[in-house]
Amino acid sequence: MWQAESIFLGASRKPDDSYQGPEELLLKYGNRHGLVTGATGTGKTVTLQILAEGFSDAGVPVFCADIKGDVAGLAKAGEPKDFLAKRAEAIQLADYQFKEFPVVFWDLFGEQGHPIRATVSEMGPLLLSRLLNLTEAQEGVVNIAFKLADEEGMLLLDMKDMQSMLASMAERASELSGRYGNITKASVGAIQRALLVLEGQGGDHFFGEPALRISDLMRTSRDGRGAINVLAADRLMMNPRLYATFLLWLMSELFEELPEIGDPDKPKLVFFFDEAHLLFADAPKVLVERVEQVVRLIRSKGVGVYFVTQNPLDVPETVLAQLGNRVQHALRAYTPREQKAVKTAAETFRPNPDFDCADAITQLGTGEALVSTLAEKGVPSMVQRTLIRPPSSRLGPLTPDERRQVIAQSPVAGQYDTTVDRESAYEMLAKQADAKARAEEDQRAREAAQKEEAARGRWTLPDMNGDGRERAPAKPRASNRQTVAEAAMKSVVRSVGSSVGRALVRGILGSLKKGF
Ligand SMILES: Nc1ncnc2c1ncn2[C@@H]1O[C@H](COP(=O)(O)OP(=O)(O)OP(=O)(O)O)[C@@H](O)[C@H]1O
Ligand SMILES: [Mg+2]
Repeated sequence: MWQAESIFLGASRKPDDSYQGPEELLLKYGNRHGLVTGATGTGKTVTLQILAEGFSDAGVPVFCADIKGDVAGLAKAGEPKDFLAKRAEAIQLADYQFKEFPVVFWDLFGEQGHPIRATVSEMGPLLLSRLLNLTEAQEGVVNIAFKLADEEGMLLLDMKDMQSMLASMAERASELSGRYGNITKASVGAIQRALLVLEGQGGDHFFGEPALRISDLMRTSRDGRGAINVLAADRLMMNPRLYATFLLWLMSELFEELPEIGDPDKPKLVFFFDEAHLLFADAPKVLVERVEQVVRLIRSKGVGVYFVTQNPLDVPETVLAQLGNRVQHALRAYTPREQKAVKTAAETFRPNPDFDCADAITQLGTGEALVSTLAEKGVPSMVQRTLIRPPSSRLGPLTPDERRQVIAQSPVAGQYDTTVDRESAYEMLAKQADAKARAEEDQRAREAAQKEEAARGRWTLPDMNGDGRERAPAKPRASNRQTVAEAAMKSVVRSVGSSVGRALVRGILGSLKKGF
């Protein structure tokens, strides 16, 4: 089968605006990451759309978030329009076809796509603390909660598990502080409140099981095209922290789960990080460093990460330096900050003697961009003024009916739709508390019986051959119940195999390392 080696992005133009030549993204450098920037309405989403189409056609699965609902158009064929035909002609796109792409819809809230879930344990203490916007001291307590859960064989799957783990820690604070360091009631309380807030914002939909299997994002359709996974993010964007943490988690899961493959002919998966500024906005330094590290290392696992944002200044320099394929749409340059952004953006390109980069950035039309990709030997190509190709799929959203249809026909239909609530920390702690309460009750009963007996003991009965046995205090039943709880715990430990019951191994961003 003939395999394309590149994705057609559009055509560059000469200084007199006439056709110059095709601009392409080489698939073998698709994992060298990318950046799509530009002011609102300049064509970023369409660029994302044609990149996703190109990767899918090349058999590369894609993951992207859909913030305004227009990315969903990938699931339907576009309709012929004059302006599209005109552009196709201008860039000499001979066989411009309209077609739909194999889209799988996902939604953290389970409304506009298959629910996407992760367990608290998979998310790990670092990202959870970031998600909850915790202080350092509170983060310390979260770390202890994870450690304790690991040691005691408690599964942290959903938010109730985390809540009850914290409640139990607060109760045992003095005992635990000796072992792990200070656990104040104030810190625990603050974390519990933050969890409640997150729950109110829909976080309870996200944490739980069945958790997402990464392989489900990496499907190809029967005709060899890569699945385009579209995450509904309109509602999610109301909680930008959840949005950013989720994408970060997903990226780190990909990193932890996928094997090292060196430099592939084409990426294994391409991950678009839209509204990327949210990832870095007021992120602590360690987090930015870890992200930088993941972005650098994920390349050799065949994953390309493409950041989409308005302003190149939104992305830290260390990350920016790693983004090899660039599409810069128009920027405005009215305020000093805007002028600085234009200057920075211009300076990141390999200059073209035909035009001044900074001037060009402010003059680009809609769907037009400065493009530089990695060429042979991984050297950035000279920047070109490029008219981006029109998409083959629909420009704009799907109707609710169309979306329902796509969801019903999805390869993961039914797989994630119902929540499973298996026994985890919440249930186990509840059982333990129950057992403890019963043990205490039994103890009280025993003491009462003993007292009674002692009172009765003031009188002596004649020993009538073993009759005294009847007065022996009732055997405490607590131990029996405790055994039930213990057995349950053991069975859970068994059912999750090696992942609980000994310390878990966590990766760069604190998500679980798999395959141990
Ligand atoms: N490559 C293209 N070919 C044809 N039309 C395009 C192209 N790029 C952009 N357009 C036109 O411009 C419109 C706006 O583009 P787009 O939605 O991609 O902007 P945006 O940068 O994503 O804006 P926002 O920041 O508001 O999301 C499109 O709806 C489409 O009509
Ligand atoms: Mg857009």
